[in-house]
Amino acid sequence: MSNPSVVGFSGNITRPSKTRAFVDLVVQDIANLHGLSGRTYDIDDVGPSLGSARWARDLDAKAQAILAQVIAADVLVVGSPTYKGSYTGLFKHFFDLIDPTALKGEPVLLTATGGGERHALIVEHQLRPLFGFFEAFALPTAVYATDKDFTDGPRKAEPRVKTGPGTRNIIGLLACSSRYYQ
Ligand SMILES: Cc1cc2nc3c(=O)[nH]c(=O)nc-3n(C[C@H](O)[C@H](O)[C@H](O)COP(=O)(O)O)c2cc1C
Repeated sequence: MSNPSVVGFSGNITRPSKTRAFVDLVVQDIANLHGLSGRTYDIDDVGPSLGSARWARDLDAKAQAILAQVIAADVLVVGSPTYKGSYTGLFKHFFDLIDPTALKGEPVLLTATGGGERHALIVEHQLRPLFGFFEAFALPTAVYATDKDFTDGPRKAEPRVKTGPGTRNIIGLLACSSRYYQ
């Protein structure tokens, strides 16, 4: 493996975003701990071509480049704000454009944010089945953060949570990934 990368993808549709900040915190934590290159994107980065795209080829060049980085990531960190008990529609639409086999065996850390604790199981009941469909290698421990976990409140979106031991096992996860058995 040369220069492995950790890529974050956040389903927030507005900025500033607690979810983006949180996903990036996890990405930077993993990258710093293990000497990987880290980069985080969100729906805003993908841009306006996403909404009207029916296929990945309909995306503009910038959006296609982000899609390619998500697919090629050695470790993918995904996160979405909870909207009506699930991920945002555009988060799902982004992944709907990805070939069903493209994320097979990719190590994925699942995260989400929400206004309160009521929908904490979004990571298990919404995100995990989606990445199960892709046969991605989702880390057993997923992370959910609420407004209380951000010191400066929703507007500043500064997370104060620590990402925990899950990120420290990420290299083990990489080694176990079926991608590297092939
Ligand atoms: C349209 C909409 C629907 C929401 N639905 C939920 C919900 O069902 N459960 C929840 O806990 N929070 C809900 N929230 C609150 C957001 O999930 C929460 O504030 C989130 O952390 C915002 O992340 P962001 O700053 O990245 O946009 C909703 C917010 C919006 C705007």
